[in-house]
Amino acid sequence: MRILVTGASGKLGSQIVESLAEKIPTSHIIAGVRDTQSEKAEAFIGQGIEVRETDFEKKDTLVQAFQGIDRVFIVSTFGDADSSIRQQTNAVEAAVEARVAQIVYSSAPRADVSEFFLAGIHRIREEIIKASGISYVFVRNNWYVENELGTIQQCLNGAPWVTSAGTGHVGWVYRPDLAEATANVLIGDGHDQKAYELSGENLTQQQFVGALNEVTDKDIPLLAVDDAAYGEMLTGAGLPEDLVTILVMTQQGIREGGLENTHSDLEMLLGRKPTSVKEALQQLLS
Ligand SMILES: NC(=O)c1ccc[n+]([C@@H]2O[C@H](COP(=O)([O-])OP(=O)(O)OC[C@H]3O[C@@H](n4cnc5c(N)ncnc54)[C@H](OP(=O)(O)O)[C@@H]3O)[C@@H](O)[C@H]2O)c1
Repeated sequence: MRILVTGASGKLGSQIVESLAEKIPTSHIIAGVRDTQSEKAEAFIGQGIEVRETDFEKKDTLVQAFQGIDRVFIVSTFGDADSSIRQQTNAVEAAVEARVAQIVYSSAPRADVSEFFLAGIHRIREEIIKASGISYVFVRNNWYVENELGTIQQCLNGAPWVTSAGTGHVGWVYRPDLAEATANVLIGDGHDQKAYELSGENLTQQQFVGALNEVTDKDIPLLAVDDAAYGEMLTGAGLPEDLVTILVMTQQGIREGGLENTHSDLEMLLGRKPTSVKEALQQLLS
């Protein structure tokens, strides 16, 4: 069986390739990247992993790259709705043309029903895959612990943990766990037409800061504000307006339960307990 991972130059994609390489011969793994001359691409080749160009904006690269591939991992890309839909359509049409047997797509928590602002585009991207008739598996990834590293750094430099998310829970998940679970799906059987909710530990902002304080032996305070004050603080810190809007909507969505872990398939796919937030922070901050 030959498996191609798109976005293999990225953090999740490269961790999926890494995990696959621990489980199956590297001759069965193909790393899909936009830049086949990059250091990352060279490193894959050095490991005996074939590299192919996969640019979602260039359908011909996808049709070419997917030749002889049984299963393909399609990474979600971050962009406006038009480009996301165009890129997803290119990838899915290419998979159909190249007769790929299965698509595994990295989606968002409860993408089919969620009102979280990031879920809508994933719902559309899932629908594009479903409409193609190809076999699929959706791995609906919750919030990476790694997303917080920038804020953590500021807190370690003396800032408080500012939040308008109230007591909303987040199923924070360690990205290597998502990569390993996705690799297990890609090499496993019986996953067709499944949507897996992949979440970690369910914590409030206060509990997350508690874990951070334990790991760093600090006493970082939590500063609870409303959305308006949160946005003003980010604007005051010089963040661009678009990003401020996204960050405020994230806090609002968390407060309303959009990232709460209501049910996780992660332990089942990993065959072990997922990494806790505390363990993840220990790894990331060591
Ligand atoms: N669940 C979460 O908390 C969370 C957080 C952040 C992001 N995400 C989503 O999950 C995805 C994977 O996360 P990540 O940490 O691996 O992000 P990442 O490190 O930014 O990787 C994104 C990958 O997508 C590739 N890519 C972007 N545009 C492309 C295009 N037009 N054609 C082909 N490849 C393209 C990038 O290739 P290049 O190296 O060539 O740019 C890169 O390999 C992200 O893209 C985003 O949609 C989820």
